[in-house]
Amino acid sequence: MSRSLKFPKKFLWGAATAAHQVEGGQHNQWTVWELENARSLAARASYQYDDLESWKAVAREAKHPNNYVSGRGVDHFHRYEEDFRLLKQLGLTTFRFSIEWSRVEPEQGKWDAGAITHYRDYIRSMKKQGIVPVATLFHFTLPVWFAELGGFEKRRNVRHFVRFAEKVFEELGSDLGYVVTVNEPTVYMNESYLAGNWPPNKTGKLRGVWVLLNLIAAHKRIYALARASAHHRRLKLSMAHHVLHFYPGDTAWLSRMSAAVAGYAANTFTIRRVRRQSDYLAVNYYQAFRMFGYRAHNSELLEVNDLDWDMQPELLEDVLEELWERHRLPILVTENGLADGEDAKRVTWLKETIGAMSRALDAGVKLIGYLHWSLLDNFEWDKGYWPKFGLVAVNRRTMGRMVRPSARWLSGVIKRLRNEH
Ligand code: BGC
Repeated sequence: MSRSLKFPKKFLWGAATAAHQVEGGQHNQWTVWELENARSLAARASYQYDDLESWKAVAREAKHPNNYVSGRGVDHFHRYEEDFRLLKQLGLTTFRFSIEWSRVEPEQGKWDAGAITHYRDYIRSMKKQGIVPVATLFHFTLPVWFAELGGFEKRRNVRHFVRFAEKVFEELGSDLGYVVTVNEPTVYMNESYLAGNWPPNKTGKLRGVWVLLNLIAAHKRIYALARASAHHRRLKLSMAHHVLHFYPGDTAWLSRMSAAVAGYAANTFTIRRVRRQSDYLAVNYYQAFRMFGYRAHNSELLEVNDLDWDMQPELLEDVLEELWERHRLPILVTENGLADGEDAKRVTWLKETIGAMSRALDAGVKLIGYLHWSLLDNFEWDKGYWPKFGLVAVNRRTMGRMVRPSARWLSGVIKRLRNEH
């Protein structure tokens, strides 16, 4: 497929993870919540997921309480060198990870020197293999003490997170380039505060929006802090936006209008508030919705992934072109992928995605890279371990890694694209 494709020489091909989803051995607000909720999540699985197409294949894992406890993760904390080697073998040269706040500041105001050394070694080890780091500061997990203070519900708590960012910059900043301050603020607002599926399980629109505004305020302060320092000025900062793509299914005024309104609420509302404080635009893309009137209704003919999310990877082109048109910032795709335990649909997804990016580049979008979610099978928050997003499968008993065939395919394409320069 690479014959008709042209990607810039410096295009960043890579994969993404987050600390809590892979490292193992955490102690934070989520681990406390998991232990309290594992049994009920397991008991609910049968009626919550039994209409999924993938149910037969995942039922055993989904009904077991252990599935909902992050526990040892996939032991990435100890096996990171092996994981970076795998990444490199696959021809991927960029890696997104998160720095776990609860490790670095386990108690308020007390920095853990061991954790800082760990992350320093970690980042240097990746750079030694020629891998470009993309570091996230907040990927849904909070230290217990910060959650007890009220987390991001209170504007005055923002300073604690800003202080953590400052510490990371002081200690690790010289080894970093791309930084994601906050991962998917809108998903965090939805899951933790509107739907109330995630800790602290609150529902309340006003509080949810206030949390979102506080995360935006945190990002802005961190941006100002980085710009004010001669050492950190070169860091490139963005929030990572979970972009939901809404498009009209017909030409009716209402369909066009509701697609525009939904897109504004889901994406533009947040992005335009941090547009001037973004050096690039970190974009996570998984799903799109076709609007008829004021309802979303995707075609019944679409393939779905193991979570029953409709697959429309080719629409990444429209996502990128619209974002470029509207915000004029260089774009890094910081997450994109699918749950596919059988690895039956990942190649199609990747093929369509690469085609979409190539067309967006042709159309003039300044696209700087693509990071697949995820390198490894990982802990999928309230769903636990049964959804398999990894290019590399992990056997959690042995912690053995197994490169999936789709990853080999991707690796072949990337290597060919690179050789064409
Ligand atoms: C999150 C990841 C998650 C992925 C797949 C994204 O919204 O940032 O943490 O694993 O979606 O569900």
